[in-house]
Amino acid sequence: MPESRPDLPKQVRICQHTACRRAGSERVFAAFQNQAPKDWQILDSSCLGHCGNGPMVWVLPDDIRYHHVLPEEVGAIATRHLLQGKPIAAMHYPRRP
Ligand code: FES
Repeated sequence: MPESRPDLPKQVRICQHTACRRAGSERVFAAFQNQAPKDWQILDSSCLGHCGNGPMVWVLPDDIRYHHVLPEEVGAIATRHLLQGKPIAAMHYPRRP
C-alpha cells in the first residue's frame, strides 16, 4: 500500500501525454472535472512513466495510481476513493515507478 503524502493537497492528476491521450485520457479528465468532490483539484499531468497502461490517474496525497481508467469508472473512484476515502484496490496500478 503506498504511503499517504499529507504534505500535498488533495489532487487527481490525469496523464495527458501521447499514449494516454490515445487511450482516451481527455474524456477521463472531463469526467473527473464533472464528478469529483469540489474540494479536490483536478489537474492534467505529463507522462507518469507507465505508458501503455493508460489512461493513468494519480491520486494524491494517497499516492495511489489507477490504470486503464475508463470515463464510466470515474464515478466509482470519485465516490469511493475521493468522497469516502476508500481506494478501490482492484483498480490500482500494481507497479511502482
Ligand atoms: S503517456 Fe501516460 S503514462 Fe506515459
